[in-house]
Amino acid sequence: MSDAALVVLTGAGLSAESGLGTFREKDGLWTRFDLEDVATPEGFARDPKLVREFYNARRANLRAAAPNAAHRALAELQKTCPGQVMLVTQNVDDLLERAGATEVLHMHGELLKTRCAHCAAVWADDGDMSAEQICPSCGAADGARPDVVWFGEIPMFMPQIETALTQCRFFASIGTSGAVYPAAGFAMTARRSGARAVELNLEDTEVSQVFHERIRGPASEILPPWVEEMVGRLARSPWGC
Ligand code: OAD
Repeated sequence: MSDAALVVLTGAGLSAESGLGTFREKDGLWTRFDLEDVATPEGFARDPKLVREFYNARRANLRAAAPNAAHRALAELQKTCPGQVMLVTQNVDDLLERAGATEVLHMHGELLKTRCAHCAAVWADDGDMSAEQICPSCGAADGARPDVVWFGEIPMFMPQIETALTQCRFFASIGTSGAVYPAAGFAMTARRSGARAVELNLEDTEVSQVFHERIRGPASEILPPWVEEMVGRLARSPWGC
């Protein structure tokens, strides 16, 4: 799918109206928790119980959440224009999939997967992680950690994403603050390769000036009309839709 005409990057703002908190806004996760404690390999080595409890609570929030109109609009876009839309998300939730998206690149991993810190085996898991959990692959205990990317770790799918950014015609950034690299640099990479870049967000971000176009408002309101417009643009492009 690296020859997609449109690459869409999403962040926590996409899921905010589903009741999942963002990170850097008022009352965001990183204003209430120290990311060094709960989102680094060093934090996990220091206090695995605290880290597991933090992600168990996020799993509980996710179980109670449902996709909103913005997730549904993006899923519809991917279905309407097969092969033309690469959905890349920094979100670890599964709300795009639950809205019907068929292929989502979770560059920061997935909350509903557990990874064994001993052998790196990964399995689907929407329950609570614990020290007693046995790895189904190596049989070791005390290794359960969420399959999410922590600070100091390498984001997933980067070669595939980088290739798509240099080949796409359109790039959209939705509900992300542009505070975390490499995702914050995607708009610039796409622009350098000639793509038209649009940012959809409640407000201006640290990287807004990089975009050709800025659309402001809640994702659930601004995504459906934008998707409609994109379907038209892709349909008129040489690649069709
Ligand atoms: P942030 O919390 O940094 O930014 C959320 C963005 O969403 C802000 O720019 C808000 O203006 C916007 N926003 C909030 N509500 C919105 C709504 N209803 N509609 C549209 N926009 C809205 O979250 P991210 O940019 O996703 O990484 O954070 C990036 C990464 O930092 C996360 O993936 C996570 C975090 O540390 C890791 O944990 C590795």
